[in-house]
Amino acid sequence: MNVPFVDLKAQYQSIKSEIDPAILTVISETAFVGGKYVEGFEKAFAEKFGVKHCVSCANGTDAIYITLKALGIGPGDEVITVANSFIATSEAITLTGAKVVFVDIDPTTYNIDVNQIEAKITAKTKVIIPVHLYGQPADMDPILALARKHGLKVIEDSAQAHGARYKGRSIGTMGDAATFSFYPGKNLGAYGDAGAIVTNNDEFALKAKMFANHGRVEKYDHAMEGVNSRLDGLQAAILNVKLAYLPQWTESRRRHAYLYNRLLTHPGVTKPTEIENVIAVYHLYVIRVKRERRDSLQKHLLAKGISTGIHYPIPLPKLKAYAYLKHTDSDFPRATAAAGEIVSLPMYAELDEAKIAFIADQVNTFLANNGG
Ligand SMILES: Cc1ncc(COP(=O)(O)O)c(C=O)c1O
Repeated sequence: MNVPFVDLKAQYQSIKSEIDPAILTVISETAFVGGKYVEGFEKAFAEKFGVKHCVSCANGTDAIYITLKALGIGPGDEVITVANSFIATSEAITLTGAKVVFVDIDPTTYNIDVNQIEAKITAKTKVIIPVHLYGQPADMDPILALARKHGLKVIEDSAQAHGARYKGRSIGTMGDAATFSFYPGKNLGAYGDAGAIVTNNDEFALKAKMFANHGRVEKYDHAMEGVNSRLDGLQAAILNVKLAYLPQWTESRRRHAYLYNRLLTHPGVTKPTEIENVIAVYHLYVIRVKRERRDSLQKHLLAKGISTGIHYPIPLPKLKAYAYLKHTDSDFPRATAAAGEIVSLPMYAELDEAKIAFIADQVNTFLANNGG
């Protein structure tokens, strides 16, 4: 049986009858950049999460960068984030001229360890960026309390968590702003790069909108310098069609995750943990096995036609890009240990029970035959 890691073709086929005319309409109207399809998506996305503003942009990395710039972050500032994420999170911080300060992970959720944040706060700290990694909500209440206590802003990197909920609140609505990626493989994915920022703050929303569009509101009236980071009409029209399916796709992902949980019976597998009172959206389904089994398990699964991934094989502070920070493994022992043991199994809405049963059986059998 062949099981890809994600199956974008299956999803396209399931909505082709709506997507194709939506694309043709944008082309026939030459509504390529900005315009009514972009505005329509921004309105729909903001309404979906119950926030006042959605500012669209070119991708999820820009969304973080634009947010930081609109908050006035720059050289001399420090921004705290988590040691386990995609480099986009920390890259956007460094791009502003600010210093990235990493915090180790909670060993069960792989999200930022809220108990280790305060020790990293200095007089220069301006922002905390928790990441809702794998679609698992970060523990926001302690983070928000720390931010209040120290006068910091909070940006939720929600690139992997569209539609997730934390204690009755939508991910993306709790911090000062939240950023999303609509990279094709994301839970809500465009057919190219795309991103967005959501916020309830009118002044910040206007600044972010201006910064993303050359520092202007009206054509040729530039109040400041910014960047060219705009959503295009085709992506907006596609996202508009797909947004209506997000709840049912999320439900499917959650069903698949619980089936994996039930069928992965070998005690050598550590399964994902949801913290209390959250709805995780399983952008990724990440298990953990003994370090000495991880690579051979991946190879075995691939030989059986099952594609897997590792998110992420090197903790951010240990990347060559951050060698200048001079961190050692002992600075981030949990992120370092997890990076050697995690495996992401196939996860997408169109997966079916037979495939999940096949994958779980292969994992269980491999571990049983190889000493767990
Ligand atoms: C956690 C996280 N943050 C930020 C990004 C950046 O998004 P994009 O690829 O749209 O720039 C990604 C996606 O790759 C991500 O997974």
